Amino acid sequence: MKPLLLALSLVALASCTPAPASQDPAPAPAAAEPAGAAEKVELAEVMDALAGRMANIWFAGTAGNAPLLKYEIHELEEAVEDVSRVRPTEHGVPVADRLEAALAMLPALTEAAGDEAAFAPAYDAVVDACNTCHVDTEHGYIKVIRPTAPAQSNRSFE
Ligand code: HEC
Repeated sequence: MKPLLLALSLVALASCTPAPASQDPAPAPAAAEPAGAAEKVELAEVMDALAGRMANIWFAGTAGNAPLLKYEIHELEEAVEDVSRVRPTEHGVPVADRLEAALAMLPALTEAAGDEAAFAPAYDAVVDACNTCHVDTEHGYIKVIRPTAPAQSNRSFE
């Protein structure tokens, strides 16, 4: 009985084997469209990462956690490194240049870490740079603000 069951399940398995990859024609003209769409998704993904880092920067900075603040700033810088490859310009705005200008304001935040009176306005200046570019690229409906709660509840910023 057992060998029969085994044989039956092997037959069932074999019939489930996916069709060979030759079923994937991938015509050249159709490939151009998804590539453009993927690029657009990538900039939004970079931006989403920036928003997450900016939230972490707020909580690390207001908690006076300078090493974590430095780390988050470094990760933010890394996130924009390849951005000009993703989208060189948006509505005539040079994307990498504007992002670098915003990032150039970040190191000043490390000096203000833990001093909320100094940190908050310096942070808001960066947020303004983000939002000004959203307006300039006709994405003014995307507004970054100070975070009210960490995006991840399992992170400590102390
Ligand atoms: C070069 C101008 C520019 C700068 C500077 C900029 N953004 Fe953006 N941002 C954009 C554009 C353009 C989009 C729309 C992306 C798209 O069309 O895919 C966007 C979209 C976003 C989004 C929405 C992403 C999503 O998931 O849909 C967020 C969040 C965001 N930006 C946050 C930020 C933050 C935070 C900063 C500052 C650290 C910043 N942006 C700086 C141009 C900019």
